[in-house]
Amino acid sequence: MNFENILCDLSDGIAVVTVNRPDKLNALNQITISELDACFMALAKDSACQVVVMRGAGEKAFVAGADIGEMATMKADEAETLARRGQALMNRIENLGKPVIAAVGGFALGGGCELAMACSFRYAAENAKLGLPETGLGLIPGFGGTQRLARLVGKGRALELVLMGGMISADEAAAMGLVNKVLPQEDLMPAVMKVASILAAKSSFTLRMALQAVNEGLEMSQESGCHLEAALFGVCGASEDAHEGCSAFMEKRKPNFQKP
Ligand code: COA
Repeated sequence: MNFENILCDLSDGIAVVTVNRPDKLNALNQITISELDACFMALAKDSACQVVVMRGAGEKAFVAGADIGEMATMKADEAETLARRGQALMNRIENLGKPVIAAVGGFALGGGCELAMACSFRYAAENAKLGLPETGLGLIPGFGGTQRLARLVGKGRALELVLMGGMISADEAAAMGLVNKVLPQEDLMPAVMKVASILAAKSSFTLRMALQAVNEGLEMSQESGCHLEAALFGVCGASEDAHEGCSAFMEKRKPNFQKP
């Protein structure tokens, strides 16, 4: 896949998607949003891709937000359309059916923080700075940030970040559960790639079921979520991968899961 503003490298089941506008701190302009959308649409269908790693080019930023230059003179319908396009991208990533790991180095602000939150989980470098600074621009987060942040860290912390519009350090983000782990800058990508390779060796069918159970279950009451979990457990339990995984454990060998 050839794009102007993103790179996508796929090998050994792992696709590394890089937002590649380092001179603009990888800000998400309209072209970049379209390219990310097309890339994730293709990765969803590509059976060679089992796991995705999302990163930004350069050392300074993961993604410093939506492109502010494109937002300076928006009309209401244009702003709403932008939000819907951004949200559609984030929903596609969250519901890809494959794990997406965010490798957050440097700034992850606004749409960048929202992009990281749409991923399955986040590892951050010590230099990461996260936040939703939109109120300082006379805006509110529009790519799902008001919704995903409250679900990830709770309403009180989300409201503080959204209303104040400040930036927090990687350690602060980890303490509130916004990122899962903080690593020295040089260790970030090796650690993320190691986790990605562990996931790539698992049953992709099983991972899809697990993602569905958590993502869809969170939108339901706990009781309904447990019904969903039981139904998906039923589907998994009857699968060849479950039979292979359990047999392999009993036979003290590594499982040999189906290739998608
Ligand atoms: N949209 C468009 N351009 C952006 C951008 C964004 N969100 N964030 C950074 N850039 C551009 C800058 O305009 C600058 O471009 P230039 O060299 O052509 O002038 C370049 O990226 C480097 O940014 P700069 O501001 O010079 O770097 P810095 O180290 O001084 O500051 C930040 C870094 C992240 C604090 C600052 O760029 C910033 O506040 N960015 C906006 C963050 C934001 O509000 N995001 C939410 C948008 S909804």
